[in-house]
Amino acid sequence: NKIIIAIDGYSSCGKSTLAKQIAKELNYVYIDTGAMYRAVSLYALQKGFIVNNVLEVTKLLAALPSIKISFSYNLAQSKSETFLNGVNVEQDIRTIEISNHVSKVAQIKEVREKMVDLQRAMGDDKGLVMDGRDIGSVVFPNAELKLFMTASPKIRAQRRFDELKAKGDKVSFEDVMANIVLRDNDDTSRTENPLIKSPDAIVIDNSDITQEEQFELALNYAKN
Ligand code: C5P
Repeated sequence: NKIIIAIDGYSSCGKSTLAKQIAKELNYVYIDTGAMYRAVSLYALQKGFIVNNVLEVTKLLAALPSIKISFSYNLAQSKSETFLNGVNVEQDIRTIEISNHVSKVAQIKEVREKMVDLQRAMGDDKGLVMDGRDIGSVVFPNAELKLFMTASPKIRAQRRFDELKAKGDKVSFEDVMANIVLRDNDDTSRTENPLIKSPDAIVIDNSDITQEEQFELALNYAKN
């Protein structure tokens, strides 16, 4: 009896880390919906639709039908990679530049409709772990298990900073912190599918627990 597990929460809460662990353990498919909004943002940047930090929404809307997003599983590295119009963009979508534009792109109604349709189509087979902001509330309101993850902004910023630094990114802690505050604000205040905890979601605050503890906790919920 395979199920759908929806994992929502704030930026840089470790949603994808947990989702990957669960998917691996249960042999489920893992879908990172943030990667989809990031890929749309990369497209907008590449096409020059973002000028002086302002997104030209009409241009993006006109181009929307020609944006194709897909995932492919890299067996050698046992991880899923994001493709934009057939090109592997897994690295390119993780930069702070993309992080700074993505929450504005994700506010656009038509963008969300397209992404939600794609996400629902991926749920045809059960045995799915999907992470994002609106998975339990909008994409799969009937998901058998909903987790809502949170941690203090400072802890999230520190974790994300360490991660980017380890990848050789020269970003400052202040910039990472500012980005987290910006996205928390954009994601919770938008009109279209804002980030909210579904009444039936289980909250996991991982400020003070280890990744292993969190995994055990979540797995327990998934199995019961
Ligand atoms: O999960 P990640 O931090 O990579 O997501 C990037 C951004 O995409 C979020 O800050 C949010 O603005 C947007 N997003 C969303 N709905 C989702 C997933 C991500 O609006 N389901």
